[in-house]
Amino acid sequence: MTESPDLRTMKIPLHHGSGHIPALGFGTLIPDPAVTLTATRDALEAGFRHFDCAERYQNEREVGDALQSGLAAGGVTREDIFVTTKLWNSNHRPERVEPAFQASLERLRLNYLDLYLIHTPFAFQPGDDQDPRDQDGNVIYDRDVTLLDTWRALESLVDQGKCRAIGLSDITLDKLLPIYEAARIKPAVIQVESHPETELLEFCNQKGIVLLAFAPLGHGMKPGLIGDPVISAIAARIGKTPAQVLLAWAVQRGTALLTTPKSAARARENFDISALPDDAFDEINRIQTRQRLNDVVNTGSPGFIPRTTTV
Ligand SMILES: NC(=O)c1ccc[n+]([C@@H]2O[C@H](COP(=O)([O-])OP(=O)(O)OC[C@H]3O[C@@H](n4cnc5c(N)ncnc54)[C@H](OP(=O)(O)O)[C@@H]3O)[C@@H](O)[C@H]2O)c1
Repeated sequence: MTESPDLRTMKIPLHHGSGHIPALGFGTLIPDPAVTLTATRDALEAGFRHFDCAERYQNEREVGDALQSGLAAGGVTREDIFVTTKLWNSNHRPERVEPAFQASLERLRLNYLDLYLIHTPFAFQPGDDQDPRDQDGNVIYDRDVTLLDTWRALESLVDQGKCRAIGLSDITLDKLLPIYEAARIKPAVIQVESHPETELLEFCNQKGIVLLAFAPLGHGMKPGLIGDPVISAIAARIGKTPAQVLLAWAVQRGTALLTTPKSAARARENFDISALPDDAFDEINRIQTRQRLNDVVNTGSPGFIPRTTTV
């Protein structure tokens, strides 16, 4: 019998030798700065080595402080961790990309990034307001920049050695295809909600792109994935928690994932995953519910971030 792989430390190769991404990632979409600091520290201590950030989360400084204190404590080096951040919609104009990237890097207190993503394919009015709206409350989009213009600016960051890999987030296959075709440096990672169209997953698998799944626990919404009777029954049968079952399934399915535990106990719980027996894995694959929780993929406006003016 072959031994099951250790899902906690599994890494997936990124193409063109741009390294490996740890499958189990910690997400930093945490509105409270003090909680961001403690939760990020707890995640590092629990064993997470992959950290997902974004300028839009407005907490890169706290994540940077937590990472620096973890690195300073010893035992973990910069090369041991994998850090991603994302370019926000109001910085899609090519001349805004490098300054936005540098500002993120400074807040995170790093000198390179492992992965830089275009947060959504929607360009908003360029400027410092992250949520530009007209008098009627409608988002002001920027029609004078294409996604390919922005992609070219990201390619140049890789050329300059400032980040090792680039990708996109909240994108559908129809928008991804033209970028993939035209790209000189192909997207290494696509970050989308954890139950994407199978077509997108198939495309990523064929092209060697890592699918990085967010909301693997259904963003903790209730009723939701954690209370699903199939998941609870499997958890009881194999002596794991529902969260551990869902996270293990996502890694076994070949995706990387991001989860956001906010306490030390939950960080340890979410890190302590192990391979599911085949019958349990198949049972989850047969669940037919298909529901998207976050509408960001259709509008560029983040569904999980409360709306505030951010000038
Ligand atoms: N690209 C994008 O547009 C996008 C969008 C959304 C998210 N993301 C990224 O993906 C990351 C993960 O997304 P997510 O926050 O939706 O992940 P998630 O892990 O599915 O949901 C997090 C929620 O699940 C609950 N939870 C965590 N561990 C649990 C456990 N062991 N048992 C029971 N409940 C548990 C937590 O609730 P409590 O608050 O009660 O602890 C937390 O609020 C984000 O932080 C962000 O980095 C990206």
